[in-house]
Amino acid sequence: MVSPNFTSRKIVVIGTGYVGLPAALLLARAGHSVVGVDIDENIVQAINAGILHIKEDQLQAIMDEPEVKKNITAQSAPCPADIFLIAVPTPLDVQKQASDLSMVIEATESLIPHLREGNLVILESTVPPLTCRTTITPLLQRSGLKIGETLHLAHCPERILPGDVFHEIVHNDRIIGAENSKSRSMAADVYSTFVQGDLLLTDDVTAEMVKLMENTYRDVNIALGNEFAAVAHTLQIDIGEAIRLANQHPRVDILNPGIGVGGHCIPIDPWFIKEVDPTNARLIFAARTINDEIPTKVAAHIRDTVRGIENPQIVAIGAAYKENTADTRESPSVEIVRLLRSYGFRVNHFDPFVEGMEFPTTIEDACKNADCLALLVKHKIVMDEFNAKRTEIENVMKTPTILQF
Ligand SMILES: NC(=O)c1ccc[n+]([C@@H]2O[C@H](COP(=O)([O-])OP(=O)(O)OC[C@H]3O[C@@H](n4cnc5c(N)ncnc54)[C@H](O)[C@@H]3O)[C@@H](O)[C@H]2O)c1
Repeated sequence: MVSPNFTSRKIVVIGTGYVGLPAALLLARAGHSVVGVDIDENIVQAINAGILHIKEDQLQAIMDEPEVKKNITAQSAPCPADIFLIAVPTPLDVQKQASDLSMVIEATESLIPHLREGNLVILESTVPPLTCRTTITPLLQRSGLKIGETLHLAHCPERILPGDVFHEIVHNDRIIGAENSKSRSMAADVYSTFVQGDLLLTDDVTAEMVKLMENTYRDVNIALGNEFAAVAHTLQIDIGEAIRLANQHPRVDILNPGIGVGGHCIPIDPWFIKEVDPTNARLIFAARTINDEIPTKVAAHIRDTVRGIENPQIVAIGAAYKENTADTRESPSVEIVRLLRSYGFRVNHFDPFVEGMEFPTTIEDACKNADCLALLVKHKIVMDEFNAKRTEIENVMKTPTILQF
């Protein structure tokens, strides 16, 4: 229900991908007039045609609502507005092991000609601490406006879980960071129109750091799980049983080891902390190194398993970075398959969620004459079919070796 104090704003969302599009839809649903801006012309066309280009069932239903359709359009360049929300990628520069802010800089530059007094710019992209102050503020001030006085800037990082975006974007608590209280409250007003979780107000640098701490917390604890698993392997004990028992302790919650860390941002964001304070980010660096080594270890394990088989045929299932999603960015399973192929193995790689990687028919069919089936990502639909047909799958394989990760 629209609050009596609600004021509709014109909001330009720059970057309409996994983060920007859900925000744009929710803002349109809240009654704002939203312009989605993307340099990808296919995305612009899809939004204008009412087609969701990311796989999120509930969001398609929102996109189909007449009120939303009325309130959202897309185009390839920004235009004047009350509020600008930037949600463009911030990948890792692998060579420098630091953030690549080029797309955030380009997006910020693209809106400068359209800025006017009283505007609010919100950065949702994940960035290293101090980015708002040292990179974004000087760029925006080229407009002649002064941050915190005639132009407002806030950093409101996103916490959504792909696969459950609609629920999370509405119900998660949200960090609202800005250098002064006026900018903070302007940003909080915007999010209050669709967020039902708490709005947690802080300064911009803390907001930048909080987002990175959240993902780094996951990364470090998964690294601990992976390290425990390696020791358990040496001791020849069952790591699953050991973790289950340890977690009976009232203050212990050990995360499961795994081939990946369950997100495309999680393997990247810890580097953004190291970038600003390499001297102190020692545990963070060690954890990243441990998790980064897992695909090589898994590929070596598969290589050892098929040793002795002449020209083995490997079937790998799972290319997404985690179960039940289609996103392959930074995916460890993609790296594992790349490594196996680089060793000279024949690998058929399938993922029913990823366009172009679907099984021709069934898992059983895909495994005919194979020497090794590696279940790299345990999508529910894959595991249901696998568990129901395991005997038949083993029967059609040349060498019925099945590895589950
Ligand atoms: N995907 C997630 O689950 C998630 C969660 C939390 C935070 N984040 C962060 O949010 C940010 C965006 O990530 P994403 O997953 O939405 O990326 P994405 O690749 O899905 O979408 C970004 C979009 O921005 C567009 N773009 C790039 N440069 C542009 C420009 N100059 N002008 C207009 N459009 C431009 C791209 O074409 C793309 O469609 C990143 O910083 C990411 O780390 C992502």
